[in-house]
Amino acid sequence: MTTQRTQEELGRPLPSGEFRQVTEAIVANIEQVIEGKTATVRLALAVMLAEGHLLIEDVPGVGKTKLAKALARSVDCTVRRIQFTPDLLPSDVTGVSVYNQESRDFEFKPGAVFANIVVGDEINRASPKTQSALLECMEERQVTVDGVTYPLQTPFMVVATQNKIEMEGTYPLPEAQRDRFTARIAMGYPDVGAEIAMLDGHGAEDPVLGLLPVSDAATVRGLIAAVRQVHTAEAVKHYAVNLVNATRESPDLRLGASPRATLQMLRTARAVAALEGRDYVLPDDLQALAVPVLAHRIIPTAEAQLSRRTTDAIVADIVHRLPIPTERPRPSVYGRTVDARAEQYDPRRR
Ligand SMILES: Nc1ncnc2c1ncn2[C@@H]1O[C@H](COP(=O)(O)OP(=O)(O)OP(=O)(O)O)[C@@H](O)[C@H]1O
Ligand SMILES: [Mg+2]
Repeated sequence: MTTQRTQEELGRPLPSGEFRQVTEAIVANIEQVIEGKTATVRLALAVMLAEGHLLIEDVPGVGKTKLAKALARSVDCTVRRIQFTPDLLPSDVTGVSVYNQESRDFEFKPGAVFANIVVGDEINRASPKTQSALLECMEERQVTVDGVTYPLQTPFMVVATQNKIEMEGTYPLPEAQRDRFTARIAMGYPDVGAEIAMLDGHGAEDPVLGLLPVSDAATVRGLIAAVRQVHTAEAVKHYAVNLVNATRESPDLRLGASPRATLQMLRTARAVAALEGRDYVLPDDLQALAVPVLAHRIIPTAEAQLSRRTTDAIVADIVHRLPIPTERPRPSVYGRTVDARAEQYDPRRR
């Protein structure tokens, strides 16, 4: 299980006013270079605040690398970029002990994972051995080289990109490794207006170079601490478990989602709720996250594959069919109509 940072390491949770200000600034900053993808940008930020890792998978040229770079640049913290190639070694990722002639001792040279945000570009081009070196760090948030364990920084987030069309010369991530990613997102093509805005804004030079950070690592730790305090009602927890269980029982799936998936879905739901200015999770948050959080870690049966049903469609279908937790409508108080949903999930209004 992912080793999470203790509350002390994260420090003081950011109060809600400040939370809103910082997160809006980060989203606006990224949107200076990524046109017309607000929902995707917000989800990427939610994954960061849920202490997760992000996999961006899509066809070439839709801004995968750009989103990863813009997110990393928006936060003033250490960023390392790894361009994955077949000859990249595990030690390039984790680090290596080298002998120092002067001190007559071994010295640790940290690899690319010793950063707050690690952008792993075209992750499926590295050999399975190198991929798994990265995936170990993602899970344990630490690196062990020659018997010595080095903790990684907080926040620590891997943003990996991969192209889903190109198959030649790639090593597709096995399911167990895909499970390390909290969410998989696709960029999708921009609509006409956004594509024209891109031509206007990006025609001359790459605007990502001019992007200035609007936050720093300590602030992000405060955001993460605030997200951890978001309330989750019992009914919402049950709904999350039922959703994941439904993938395990689905006749269309050979492999359902893991308990790790349930945990990550709930954490991301807290982040999404906080980004929307709520301090409690709604079942709707889970519904919106089911496809990005679950679809990349499950395996369809041979029949489902033959009939070209994607895991996205299978998960969407499960969400559609599973009843959401029952609402208990209450009479309106003092003639005011009570918002039944907030009534049920907001702890102060019960
Ligand atoms: N929605 C968008 N808004 C702004 N720019 C975009 C958008 N989509 C693509 N672009 C532009 O297209 C170019 C290619 O983007 P990028 O290099 O991020 O693609 P990629 O998805 O990583 O492709 P590949 O799989 O080939 O690496 C960039 O200059 C980027 O600015
Ligand atoms: Mg790219």
